[in-house]
Amino acid sequence: MSALTKHFGDNAVLRGIDLDVMPGDRIAILGASGSGKSTLLRCLNFMERPSAGVVELAGQAIGRAAPGQTPAGERRYDEAELTRVRQRVGMVFQQFNLFPHMTALGNVMEGLRTVRGQREAEARGRAEAELARVGLADKADAYPARLSGGQKQRVAIARALAMDPEVLLFDEPTSALDPELVGEVLRVIRSLADEGRTMLLVTHEIGFAYHFASRVLFIAEGVIHEQGTPDQVLKHPSEPRTRAFIERHREFDF
Ligand SMILES: Nc1ncnc2c1ncn2[C@@H]1O[C@H](COP(=O)(O)OP(=O)(O)O)[C@@H](O)[C@H]1O
Ligand SMILES: [Mg+2]
Repeated sequence: MSALTKHFGDNAVLRGIDLDVMPGDRIAILGASGSGKSTLLRCLNFMERPSAGVVELAGQAIGRAAPGQTPAGERRYDEAELTRVRQRVGMVFQQFNLFPHMTALGNVMEGLRTVRGQREAEARGRAEAELARVGLADKADAYPARLSGGQKQRVAIARALAMDPEVLLFDEPTSALDPELVGEVLRVIRSLADEGRTMLLVTHEIGFAYHFASRVLFIAEGVIHEQGTPDQVLKHPSEPRTRAFIERHREFDF
């Protein structure tokens, strides 16, 4: 993405983000609450429309430059195009966002049925395979209310994986979990990293980010304030602001 900006009214939340994500990159995104991390991820799969700037997927710019605008200026988006983009860029939310009236299996099948147009049997087979992969084969018929937070988040990951996304976005996937449930979700994310998947992860789990990421970004005031390898940003940050953030969030040495 280049020169990405997003404002809500006169609140400029993203103020020019340039970021190239290559296949297999694992990018951890850190930053204070309210710094625009969720907005950044939401702009990447167009749950929010950027105010200006270009998001490219596999080398292709999404949307068309509005007449009279520079390429990085305001763009026009076509809803059908955005629906296709959202399939290619999967998202996992802090609050899981499962349908409460559907079983775990039903939640994973839903996109396969409605977006992919798969038949019942095909969608069921795929959904069962994805639930098995996150260790929840035996919870297929459970409703979200009967699942722990960690199990709900694993269902949400299975749902995202079922759509064969090229990029996976995780927005603080363990922040809503009791501490004892964090590990089971991080293990699944770790296994996806080991498969070489392309992922962007917003997290406050500094220790996990250190071992997970190929690159770490620290966001402040709507720009990338500092970026580099995990060693550079998490162990030897050069910016005082980054250092202060890491000191506050570091729970143990890594
Ligand atoms: N839909 C929205 N409408 C208006 N303001 C929003 C909306 N979403 C986010 N914001 C504002 O954008 C800023 C950044 O929010 P967010 O991206 O959620 O930050 P973070 O995820 O880093 O905590 C906040 O000031 C927030 O109030
Ligand atoms: Mg957020």
